[in-house]
Amino acid sequence: MPHMFSDVRAFRHDPLRFLLDRGNAAPLGLEPLHLGPAPVLLVTDPDLIRPILKAPETEIGKGRLIKKLTPVFGRSSLMLHGDEHKRRRAVLHKHMAKGSVERYMPQMCAEIRAVGAKLARMGEFDPHSFTAALALRTICIAVFGTQVISSGDEEALVQAVNMIEDDLADDMFRVLPVGPIGWHRRKQRRKFAKLAMSTVVERLRERARATSALKDFEVLGLSDQDLHDEILTLLLAGHHTTGTTAAWVLYHMATDPELMEAIADEADRCLDDSGELRPDAVRRADVSATLVKEVCRLYPGAWWFSREVMQPVTIAGRDLKVGTSLLICPWQLQRDPRHFPDPDRFLMTRRYTTDAYIPFGAGPRACAGMGVAMLELQLLALEIAAAYRFTGISPNPAPWPKASVTLIPPPMTIGIEVRQVRSPVIQPGDEQHVPYLPPLKSPSIATLQSVSQ
Ligand code: HEM
Repeated sequence: MPHMFSDVRAFRHDPLRFLLDRGNAAPLGLEPLHLGPAPVLLVTDPDLIRPILKAPETEIGKGRLIKKLTPVFGRSSLMLHGDEHKRRRAVLHKHMAKGSVERYMPQMCAEIRAVGAKLARMGEFDPHSFTAALALRTICIAVFGTQVISSGDEEALVQAVNMIEDDLADDMFRVLPVGPIGWHRRKQRRKFAKLAMSTVVERLRERARATSALKDFEVLGLSDQDLHDEILTLLLAGHHTTGTTAAWVLYHMATDPELMEAIADEADRCLDDSGELRPDAVRRADVSATLVKEVCRLYPGAWWFSREVMQPVTIAGRDLKVGTSLLICPWQLQRDPRHFPDPDRFLMTRRYTTDAYIPFGAGPRACAGMGVAMLELQLLALEIAAAYRFTGISPNPAPWPKASVTLIPPPMTIGIEVRQVRSPVIQPGDEQHVPYLPPLKSPSIATLQSVSQ
């Protein structure tokens, strides 16, 4: 009988290797992991995933995780259940579902072009240093309905989001709880980060479009605090997940010049007379869509998530007691050769019809921002390939990602040159074409810090 902590060392040493080796070697079903006193089962059978994720939350829910995350996410849709969760999800669906998010395409493309111009001026770049900020701007567009964020406010948001994410990442691999000094420091950091975010959100509120997701949340009668929590949740859930995946999209375009040419051709076919990507053509753009799907298979931003047994249930012939954690790991499932032959290879010829493909989860709690993320990633590929060529990449092949809240790409350098200047003309160093608003008068992070003390 293995000791209850017998897997802790291997898990902490290299969680990606541990979960992959263990899951791929296990029979399809529920594989016990010995990570502490509470029972943990890794779900290795794709047929079990949908029933687990669609089960009533009174039987299989988010359990202890919710309590642990309450200080960060407050009363946002991520934490709620039942009718209130449905009401909030309806707002997110209205603005972020696949078809509806297309209305923000011009702004999303303008943001990507601004990033492209900056990269080309530099001549070479590390993708992840740019994609995270791009993801944040895209979420702001989807929530506030327009480009409202100034660079000062963006900096404040990025710092605040990173601060919270660092603590969440630290929690993820922690076996012993933090001590009282660490706990106090965390509380202070969280308080400060949340205050910074609330300050920015309040200012953005004044500039949000009347038809934005934010205004629809206001119509629901949310308190200021609930509204801030909702936006913080969207920023946290969508920022690094999409930002890291976007970096992997650029990596794969850089390692395969033929693929980049194919996407450039596809982009040309999607352009209207004024040089803008047409939504109906992007919907049919298979090459860039497949690139995004394959990247989401190899590097699922939410590489694991979990559920907890809330009432005794029987799954796969196994009686599970209350408190049992069910670990769902897209990283493992999507690299299991039983579901994806030659799983570590990037291939543009795969099919994604199996239930083992779940980068955005499934059921009533599936990703609320999937439409935003998929569109952003596809537009990134199309816009960059249309205007630029990558001239080299190192290291190639890239080492594995680092396991944190998401899968962080290692530092890499991609060379870039202009392919063609498209209409409307966005040339390197010519960023004033992008309609950013002038910086808003905002208290700096330092000022906020003094307020929060
Ligand atoms: C490539 C990028 C992304 C990936 C891989 C991803 C993945 C996921 C997954 C797997 C879940 C379900 C977790 C569970 O069942 O426990 C989830 C939930 C969620 N995601 Fe995403 N996500 C991404 C981008 C985004 C974006 C851009 C947003 C917001 C704009 C967002 C907002 C949310 C929210 C609010 C939830 C909670 C849904 C609920 O509980 O009702 N995500 N995401």
